[in-house]
Amino acid sequence: MDTQVVIIGGGPSGLLLSQLLNRAGIATVILERSTREHVLSRIRAGILEWGSVELLREAGVGARMDAEGFAHDGTWITDADRMVHIDFKALTGKRVMVYGQTEVTQDLYAAQDAMGATILHGVEDVRILDLDGPQAAVEFTLNGEKRRLTCAYVAGCDGFHGVSRRTIPEEKRREFERVYPFGWLGILSRTPPVNDELIYANSPHGFALASMRNANLVRYYVQVPLRDTVEDWSDERFWTEFRRRIPSSAAAKLITGPSIEKSIAPLRSFVSEPLRWGRLFLVGDAAHIVPPTGAKGLNLAASDVFYLHQALTEALKQNSDKGIDAYSDRALRRIWKAMRFSWQMTTMLHRFDGEDSFAAQMRRATLAHLAESETARRDLAENYVGLPY
Ligand code: PHB
Repeated sequence: MDTQVVIIGGGPSGLLLSQLLNRAGIATVILERSTREHVLSRIRAGILEWGSVELLREAGVGARMDAEGFAHDGTWITDADRMVHIDFKALTGKRVMVYGQTEVTQDLYAAQDAMGATILHGVEDVRILDLDGPQAAVEFTLNGEKRRLTCAYVAGCDGFHGVSRRTIPEEKRREFERVYPFGWLGILSRTPPVNDELIYANSPHGFALASMRNANLVRYYVQVPLRDTVEDWSDERFWTEFRRRIPSSAAAKLITGPSIEKSIAPLRSFVSEPLRWGRLFLVGDAAHIVPPTGAKGLNLAASDVFYLHQALTEALKQNSDKGIDAYSDRALRRIWKAMRFSWQMTTMLHRFDGEDSFAAQMRRATLAHLAESETARRDLAENYVGLPY
């Protein structure tokens, strides 16, 4: 065999899996379609569950996160001017870490480079073969040349549009999907955060989220109709809309500035089962997508990686298939709970076009219940900081 595990996709899940396997003495090759610069230019999530924090430390990539990340003990959920504080620390004993996915990815590249790991960029025409034989193979084109690698296992970490999921025959897959009728317009701006903790704001004008990357870099979002494009949203229009969706006490403190990045992402819930097909295992967005409202996307990929690195280590080091046989069911149990939480947060906080008058009252009542019930707040906090692996 050319290597033990071929990993399709050099984003955070593929890199983290490779890093953990390499540290366990397992050889990997990562195949990535785009350049490293492109992977690092994608602005993604910013919140790490504590389980993800610990996994990154275990992988030997926690140093910069611990030095530069910001631990948050709580968050705010608001309905117009009504503000409900969710105190993670008091309710669950846990906290989350504000540290951007881009930074996590950069740290993983640096660690993999230091270990001399093989990461091939510009890989095209990937085909995953022989998944039910004694060894798998992956064929691809690199710099115009056809190449072939044989391996024991293939990890599909290549995202929603990747080839891995589609390698599983369509009639063997079960797909579950909910598409939401809106997107999130997000901006990055070099301004100080409007609040020291995140604000998830429900308002009569729709949802807004005030997040951050550091003391002088914010990530703010507003819910927008799916037909909107970035060109429809000047900075001025964004700030006006954002200001009127967050509580007035926060709006009074808002500091605005030019955006340095602006993008629109549609919201979707999606799961494809099973996560295993012979020698192929799906990880992260290749198998499931959550709407960003619960900050679960990267964290779910991390728990998949946790289960799979254990399973592959058992298979390759201890000659036991128990872990790989259990991987799909084990990962899916946690995935479905995060699906539920992300869907509930999305439903609780967004305005749906054409909704009836009842819907806004349900959101209001949910917020009122959160404000008055510690049990309800603890339920939200427990899910937000991350369910146990
Ligand atoms: C972000 O900072 O980009 C972010 C934070 C929390 C979310 C979604 C996105 O729920």
